[in-house]
Amino acid sequence: MSNVLVAFFSASGETARLAKTLADTVKGDLYEIQPGVPYSSADLNWNNQASRSSVEMNDKTARPVIKNRVEDMTSYDVIFIGFPIWWYEAPRIIHTFLESYDFSEKTVVPFATSGGSGMGETDHILKQTCPMARWLPGKRFSSRANTEEISAWVKGLKM
Ligand SMILES: Cc1cc2nc3c(=O)[nH]c(=O)nc-3n(C[C@H](O)[C@H](O)[C@H](O)COP(=O)(O)O)c2cc1C
Repeated sequence: MSNVLVAFFSASGETARLAKTLADTVKGDLYEIQPGVPYSSADLNWNNQASRSSVEMNDKTARPVIKNRVEDMTSYDVIFIGFPIWWYEAPRIIHTFLESYDFSEKTVVPFATSGGSGMGETDHILKQTCPMARWLPGKRFSSRANTEEISAWVKGLKM
């Protein structure tokens, strides 16, 4: 696999760990999607309908600001995008990321961690934001996923 970027957003570190293992496995560059305003634990409280994450996830048009950019997106052919599942889909900041670059002629592969939910409609929802990319099916991992599980998945991808 050549010219691979592993981009990820992680609010509490689980997806970050998986992303690092994946970047080692595919020999890709690692890029963390950093929110302009970091998420506090109060922001992440899904039991509170007024918390920042609840408000964002209740608004399909929410686009939280990203503070850092990928230096040269044109140099990558394959972009893995990792995130925690929030309310059965990708956090809105992933949509901000997808709208920040030109992904035409690029292969995009979602991956996620969650407490238990699968990808559900996640792939479909992301594709609507970025229809010009070539999407491969995304995969949800448990936060305990090991290197073997990740490399088996990568080997099975139809690049
Ligand atoms: C706001 C919010 C919503 C969540 N919604 C779900 C969900 O719908 N299904 C699920 O299995 N886990 C859900 N989770 C749990 C996270 O997906 C899980 O803890 C994930 O591994 C966290 O990754 P991170 O440490 O990279 O942020 C949610 C967590 C948060 C903070």
